[in-house]
Amino acid sequence: MVEDGNIVLSNVIASSVDLHAKTGGVVPEVAAREHILQISPILDKAMEDARVTWNDIDAIAVTHAPGLVAALLIGLNTAQALAFVHNKPLVPIHHVSGHIYANFLEREESIRFPIVVLTVSGGHNDLVLMTGHHEFKVLGESLDDAAGEAFDKVARLLSLGFPGGPIIAKTGATGNPGAYNLPRSFMDEKDQVNRYNFSFSGLKTAVRNLTQKVDLSDPKVMADVAASFEAAVVDVLSEKLIRAVEEFGAKEAHLAGGVSANQRLRKTAELKLAGRVPLVYPKKLIYCTDNAAMVAASAYYLIQKRPEVLKTDWRKIEVYSQLPLGS
Ligand code: KG4
Ligand code: ZN
Repeated sequence: MVEDGNIVLSNVIASSVDLHAKTGGVVPEVAAREHILQISPILDKAMEDARVTWNDIDAIAVTHAPGLVAALLIGLNTAQALAFVHNKPLVPIHHVSGHIYANFLEREESIRFPIVVLTVSGGHNDLVLMTGHHEFKVLGESLDDAAGEAFDKVARLLSLGFPGGPIIAKTGATGNPGAYNLPRSFMDEKDQVNRYNFSFSGLKTAVRNLTQKVDLSDPKVMADVAASFEAAVVDVLSEKLIRAVEEFGAKEAHLAGGVSANQRLRKTAELKLAGRVPLVYPKKLIYCTDNAAMVAASAYYLIQKRPEVLKTDWRKIEVYSQLPLGS
């Protein structure tokens, strides 16, 4: 429940982390079944926490894509039913645009476009130029694994658990990021094709090869491997963010999505920007990873820009804001 795209009245999360930790990753069937069980109690709690009734609600925002289809359908069908029963407009939102709008939650400063957003999660990895609200140009994306997925897979290789991002950051905190020289892909500034694209599968393979040569039972070695891997990911991500900020004369640089919680990424980006433009990331850690408040915020700004969205019919999933992403 979000007011004016900014004030979070409630943001209830049914985390599937414990469930997926058992299998070391997301099993779509298991995730979808859990969605069915959780969606109604979560809705009740969101209304209760926000102390609102249906009369207070102007519109219902829902993620329409991308993602695991079975899970998306449960959300979409529930939102359609609610829109029908309570006679409210239904606003379909692209998941990545949700992540982008997480950065506007609880924001007090005025917004200055153009903005370059690096949005990095388990499921997507994109560099986006925003010239206004809901005006997105995708500059580049990962051609294989997303950064978060690379964290998760490498954590599994190192038998550290799930999700990989926070565990690798913790394990590598005492390690030397320069201990092992791991590959950084597509860094060549003159490479016009992959200037803003990413690739992390080679890095993952390099870590796998490394694990066969070093003694991971030594905590110092483990910390060095984790730190070296994290540094390789962060170097590439921050380099491309800054490159785009300079090329497009951005007034703000944003980090969004699950990986934006990463402290090394924040610090490195801050260092490379050297105060030229502000670095913005979600005000709270819970707004980095998947949450509903970001989807509501995205819908708010879409309604401001295109008020006709409020006339949408629940029967038709009318998509007014798209991000033409490959991943
Ligand atoms: O945005 P999100 O919740 O879900 C997707 O849309 O995919 O992102 C989850 C991803 C996971 O891959 C997780 O390993 C990563 O975000 N993540 C992190 C950190 N916290 C979460 N990666 C690096 N450092 C972190 N501190
Ligand atoms: Zn996400």
